[in-house]
Amino acid sequence: MNSLFPDKMPAWIKPTIVLLFVISWIPLAMVAQRRATPTPQPRMSLIPDMDKQEKYTAQSSNPLFKDGRAMRPLVAGTVAYGQAHDDTWLYRGIRGGQWATDFPIKPTESMMLRGQRQFNIYCSPCHGLGGFGNGMVAVHADALMEGTWTPPANLHDKLVMGRPVGHIFNTITNGIRNMPPYGPQISVEDRWAIVLYVRALQRSQAGSINDVNDPSEKGRLQAERMSQVKTQPPAGTATGQAEGGVSNSGQPSPSTTEGAQPTSPQASNVHKGSGLASTRASLAKAEKLHLEMARKIAELRQSRIELCKMIEDSTARIEAKRSELWNLKLALRSNPGDKQLQAKRSEIAKELDALVKEKESKLAKINSDLDASEKADSTFLKQTEHSKEIADSNGGRR
Ligand code: HEC
Repeated sequence: MNSLFPDKMPAWIKPTIVLLFVISWIPLAMVAQRRATPTPQPRMSLIPDMDKQEKYTAQSSNPLFKDGRAMRPLVAGTVAYGQAHDDTWLYRGIRGGQWATDFPIKPTESMMLRGQRQFNIYCSPCHGLGGFGNGMVAVHADALMEGTWTPPANLHDKLVMGRPVGHIFNTITNGIRNMPPYGPQISVEDRWAIVLYVRALQRSQAGSINDVNDPSEKGRLQAERMSQVKTQPPAGTATGQAEGGVSNSGQPSPSTTEGAQPTSPQASNVHKGSGLASTRASLAKAEKLHLEMARKIAELRQSRIELCKMIEDSTARIEAKRSELWNLKLALRSNPGDKQLQAKRSEIAKELDALVKEKESKLAKINSDLDASEKADSTFLKQTEHSKEIADSNGGRR
């Protein structure tokens, strides 16, 4: 101290120096405080460079114009550079006044992959990754059961499968009925890529044996299918009855077990010209078979009608359960702690699940019956032609 402040100094100097020292910290403290405090004010810049420029921002006013708007409306009859969009095929999916049936962009593998990606981002929340209309949003909306929800379309429906690509492009761009538009979010190229992927999804569920390119694989699959047809239960199910009906009808030919081949040995006999008696016998046999088939078809139709009635019934019961569950939910909302209500709710939800499952299995049954009865119908037609053939050749002989 003594070396810093010599003895002969006036007394006020010492406190003054200390005071000045303390005061000199104040500006620094203020700067530090400002730097550490967030503020909506623009920061101070000593050298602004191009930090701030004079300009009119969106929605601001500008007294230069009569209407006072800084944003100027488009001049009538003009189009901004690069925004003419006069290619209706590319931009609207319309070609020659019709929905385009072909892509304006040549499909490539990378376009397909892009389409998959964008579909999964934009469409799958509602339509589901597979396009069956079972996305998370739809599932959740169903669970809420609020009643005003239009379920997303199943993209594998006949209607949507039959839509031209231009129509699907338009659906994405502008929306359709209850589906909102996605044109503003998704670029034109991506929209076409999504359409391409939707087509791929649809194709994936509607393949036939003719889509198999490899001939040996195709043969293997056909053989597998044939063996499945043969090993179906002979009676009990309606399908089995149809199959069994043909083979039980007294035809010794192994070809009839294959489903519907009308070329029985008798038929070839007729054409080879064996005696009248055998022709008559085969005619009688064909007629008998014919009648048998007609009866089977009638039975199948009857069973289909019954199944349909059962499904209607199921649907009604499901509806009733749903509303029961909904009422419980409402009750629980005003009474959230009620253990009894909670138990009841989970019980009813279980019952509902069971009912839905039951209905699904009935639907599956209807579908397989439908297949069987279609098959039976076509067999019947062939059989009819065949009987006519026999009758004709018989007439010629007399
Ligand atoms: C917010 C949910 C939602 C999203 C996301 C959504 N859709 Fe839809 N979509 C629907 C609904 C709901 C319907 C049925 C509309 C109706 O029938 O009222 C539908 C119907 C459709 C149809 C059938 C239209 C017809 O009748 O031809 C197609 C095709 C379709 N959507 C494609 C798409 C594609 C592709 C995307 C993705 C870009 C997409 N949707 C995204 C909800 C959605």
